[in-house]
Amino acid sequence: MSGAADKTILVTGVNGQVGFELARSLQGLGRVVAVDRKQFDLSDLDQIRRVIREMKPALIVNPAAYTAVDQAEKEKALAMRINGETPGVIAEEAKRLNAALLHFSTDYVFDGTKAAAYVETDATNPQNVYGASKLAGEQAIAQVGGASMTMRTSWVYGLRGKNFLLTMLRLAADKPALRIVGDQHGAPTWSKTIAALVAHIAAQGLAGGNDWWQPKAGVYHLCAGGVTSWAGFARAIFDYAGLDKKPSVEAIPASEYPTPAKRPANSRMSCDKLAAAFGLQVPEWDDALRLCLARSVEKRSTLAVRRHHGPSYFSVLPRRPSRMPRVIMMKSSRRRFDIMLKIRNLMPSRVISLIFQASEIYGRRHSSTALR
Ligand SMILES: NC(=O)c1ccc[n+]([C@@H]2O[C@H](COP(=O)([O-])OP(=O)(O)OC[C@H]3O[C@@H](n4cnc5c(N)ncnc54)[C@H](OP(=O)(O)O)[C@@H]3O)[C@@H](O)[C@H]2O)c1
Repeated sequence: MSGAADKTILVTGVNGQVGFELARSLQGLGRVVAVDRKQFDLSDLDQIRRVIREMKPALIVNPAAYTAVDQAEKEKALAMRINGETPGVIAEEAKRLNAALLHFSTDYVFDGTKAAAYVETDATNPQNVYGASKLAGEQAIAQVGGASMTMRTSWVYGLRGKNFLLTMLRLAADKPALRIVGDQHGAPTWSKTIAALVAHIAAQGLAGGNDWWQPKAGVYHLCAGGVTSWAGFARAIFDYAGLDKKPSVEAIPASEYPTPAKRPANSRMSCDKLAAAFGLQVPEWDDALRLCLARSVEKRSTLAVRRHHGPSYFSVLPRRPSRMPRVIMMKSSRRRFDIMLKIRNLMPSRVISLIFQASEIYGRRHSSTALR
């Protein structure tokens, strides 16, 4: 009899913010097959059907989507096809195989006029093409009626891809003052938070089988806790990033920063349904941001160390006599290493840890060997 670990998990959009993290967080729950646009083109329904039928996954996790919110205003047909039609086809194929589907949607399905946080049963009323296309995808999945869950998330950021956090860090390098929208509110959500929560859900589901998925099918809100504005998010980024020079942030109304696609003023979503169904508490947005930026600071120190000492520096470190630096090497199957220099503290023993950490690009779980 095959166990959960033998089951295939198909992850789409492996080069996207969330897809990249999911391809890693789901490791260990089954045989993860993560595909990119070439292998699984959401605009090619024949290819999608063929790939799913050949692969026979027990779970399909589908973060791939048309995500160019402003561009969608000009490419309505394409956005509607990829975000609106294709998810229904994926759901049909999943149902045919008795497989589960975890799909993603957005806060932009709402018009943002509610004063409080949105719950899953609130009326939708997208204000832009992207939001309408994602809502069409949710509805197409619901119509198929299989073991499918749609996770609505918001304001996704991380240390890779295109997102607000990276744009702010780039702007901070040469702009002393920034004017950022202050009257749109939501919860910035770290891509790793989404991946971690989804992995918990997938673990429960893969262990529980179809009887577990079916009654839980439906729409869930899955985003960080708390609320801020884009201006508040920018200020927090500059505060937590430990920058030498922080730009000042002036909060402006959205009307002074017109974009082709209209955004909702209120993107807050309650994750109470998620908590009740899966026992998962979401982290506060600013706690997650601190963690994310701590990783970014480590990465920047690593680069500085590399620049200073050259790439061979770490390979010539001596074996550690007592009270000397301790080196831990983590082996990557793809032999791509990122190096994190972590000075634990300057205690009398001057213990310094050098941690060789598998790269963000191919970061998986690795065996670790302590070199002494
Ligand atoms: N980003 C946000 O702020 C946000 C907010 C709310 C909800 N969401 C939802 O959350 C999910 C994940 O978003 P994300 O931030 O990870 O998006 P992302 O970083 O933009 O990644 C989207 C992925 O979809 C892929 N893709 C686009 N068109 C495709 C096609 N025709 N066929 C196959 N793949 C295609 C992209 O491939 P390439 O790498 O080849 O371009 C990319 O890997 C999406 O469903 C999105 O709608 C995102």
